[in-house]
Amino acid sequence: MSRASAPGKIILFGEHAVVYGRPALAVPVMQVHADVDVADGSRPGVWIHAPDVDLHAELSSLPSDHPLGAAARLFFSRFGVSPPPLEIHISSSIPVASGLGSGAAVTVALLRALSSALQHPLSAEETNSLAYEIEKLHHGAPSGIDNTVVTYAKPVYFVRGQPVETFKVGAPFTLVIADTGVAAPTRESVGDVRRLWEADRPRWEKVFDAVGEIVRTAKAKIEKGEWRALGALMDSNHSLLQRLAVSSPELDRLVESAREAGALGAKLSGGGRGGNMIALVEKADAPTAAEALKFAGAKRTIVTEVV
Ligand code: MEV
Repeated sequence: MSRASAPGKIILFGEHAVVYGRPALAVPVMQVHADVDVADGSRPGVWIHAPDVDLHAELSSLPSDHPLGAAARLFFSRFGVSPPPLEIHISSSIPVASGLGSGAAVTVALLRALSSALQHPLSAEETNSLAYEIEKLHHGAPSGIDNTVVTYAKPVYFVRGQPVETFKVGAPFTLVIADTGVAAPTRESVGDVRRLWEADRPRWEKVFDAVGEIVRTAKAKIEKGEWRALGALMDSNHSLLQRLAVSSPELDRLVESAREAGALGAKLSGGGRGGNMIALVEKADAPTAAEALKFAGAKRTIVTEVV
């Protein structure tokens, strides 16, 4: 049997503006992951079992735009193999439609498990580019940041269409990630931002420029180990995301509560409208901040160290 895993991710700065060519910073979240097992099958066909989404199906019965089926088909066509009988088991602790990169993580883990089961090595670059094809089915017009950070499992400074650039974290810092519990598909918020932009490009280009400036400053601060300075930058980035209308009452409530509980800054993370927010805290304050966020309605919290 072959097994592969891929982590979740969070965007620190720059979501949405990254779709329009501005940079963004994202880091892996190792506490949550997608796991895929591939075993030889005893019945004909390639069977995919994903109990989390109630899926038990033979590959040929899945529609062409089904992301799991499409990822397996893309792998087989990439190597020109007609697959032997296989049983593929997929599980994930990453909540779906929550900004933590669940779709990308499942795809990357699936490609890697198939690569190892069928002994067709896949480089990180190939994995990333195949996963990007599948991200388009999930998200419509994604920037590619999710598949990139999930594939490389390192902090990434991402600019659409440019070679992957990882960055060093000068001193570790602590984030509390809190889930609104509201599932919000990225495809919708990305589509709504596009409609805003199409209606008044000069106005929204200025907002994207301001986000890009925050991202560049944040990267420099992180590299120098001046992580406390990220708090104010997170607050500013959240305000710009509010202007883009991708926040929500639930996200704003958690962001406010985190600040009241002593966080140095907070913002939504990912597509928005629901899903997760992140709060920057002193390490010792993380349990108190997580409690405050639960009290304010968070369905679950993850404390993570960015290293
Ligand atoms: C989703 O994690 C991040 C967005 O910027 C969309 C994308 O970059 O594809 C909202």
